[in-house]
Amino acid sequence: MEVSIIGSGYVGLITGISLAELGHEVTFIDLDEEKIGDINSGKPPIFEKGLEELMKKTKGRYKATTNYRAITETDTTFICVGTPSKEDGSIDLTFIKSAATEIGNALKEKDKFHVIVVKSTVVPGTTEEVVKPIIEKESGKEAFKDFGLAMNPEFLREGNAVEDFFNPDRIVIGVKDEKTKEIMEKFYFPFKCPKLITDIKTAEMIKYASNAFLATKISFANEIGNICKKLGIDAYDVFKGVGLDHRINPSFFRSGIGFGGSCFPKDVKALIAKAEELGENPKLLKAVIDVNERQPLKLIELLKKHITNLEGKTIGILGLAFKPDTDDIRESRAIPIVKSLLEEGAKVIAYDPKAMDNFRELFPQLIYAESAEKVLEKSDAVLIVTEWEEFKNLDYNGHVVVDGRRIEKAKRDARIYEGVCW
Ligand code: UDX
Repeated sequence: MEVSIIGSGYVGLITGISLAELGHEVTFIDLDEEKIGDINSGKPPIFEKGLEELMKKTKGRYKATTNYRAITETDTTFICVGTPSKEDGSIDLTFIKSAATEIGNALKEKDKFHVIVVKSTVVPGTTEEVVKPIIEKESGKEAFKDFGLAMNPEFLREGNAVEDFFNPDRIVIGVKDEKTKEIMEKFYFPFKCPKLITDIKTAEMIKYASNAFLATKISFANEIGNICKKLGIDAYDVFKGVGLDHRINPSFFRSGIGFGGSCFPKDVKALIAKAEELGENPKLLKAVIDVNERQPLKLIELLKKHITNLEGKTIGILGLAFKPDTDDIRESRAIPIVKSLLEEGAKVIAYDPKAMDNFRELFPQLIYAESAEKVLEKSDAVLIVTEWEEFKNLDYNGHVVVDGRRIEKAKRDARIYEGVCW
């Protein structure tokens, strides 16, 4: 099929290139000229495992443009623009609205049935109450008759997104009209996983409930982990035992310094704001955020057990990305940790294999080391913030290490070692 993708950020790019791999002809539409240039020359504008190889392999089946008219040459348009948080945590639909406006405009000139798929994470109700009326108004056409609408959430983890696309646990498709349902089923025909067809609002909610649950699981692990720490119990051993209960499941139970990234914090906050708008008080979700905001500061608390006054001390940071295998620092736990160290008057020397350039834009005043070894060599104590593979084999002998991510070698070899929940 001929597919257009609006927004070539990480969701758009992975979705588009993966659809090209499945044999579709894909056109990326984005306002960012640099991204367009990169894509057209087969260069991934973001760092994502396996993407470069896949872009090479599918070359010739995708192209990129800044011109929204390209929509008319395709059968289906996936909306993959960002849905950031506003100041109050509620969802910012600016990019969704402008994508809908551009689609509506383009559809004016198209006679054939066209399907619009919302892939961006949007609060329940958005596709039918925001996207649909804009497209109808701009195009002068009627939804579910002249054009189809579907909501098809993504469950892609950064760093694993290509693999996640091809090996999903499930595919969720929210639709209303039969024609759109058939087209969406065709797209996902090659997949063997369970496919759940729901109404549009339900599909939107499945995405939020999934992310909110995973975030809750992490904050729960951290809360139990904090109690474990005070009792001298290793939270990892506890969750090994807990996770063996098949009703609970062992994954996403890694306690530490909390969750970051572009999804969990933003999505939980957007769900809280939506619930409040509806007159609900989502206490549990608020606690999930609260635990997550305090958790990184546990590292500082533990550090101060060994260095009471941080003024003038050099503190090393290993890892700045919100998780390994990405250069993404959005909501990284390194941010509140570094802020707090600077407030206490510490000098910070940091290293990350991929995320230093991004972090430097936020904190130009840090010393950025050329290697993890240099951080260990130059600092009075080291905080482990991201569990990069290369940190698993460092020589921690003789060092003071406060570990937020459970690096076994540090636990074994450091002169003084503190784990956040163990
Ligand atoms: C997440 C979801 O997993 C994905 O399905 C969704 O659609 C997008 O958001 P992502 O943000 O890429 O993906 O990362 P993920 O691997 O889920 O980790 C998120 C954060 O939680 C990271 O900061 C990670 O360190 C933290 N985490 C994860 C824990 O602290 N403990 C865990 O057990 C798992």
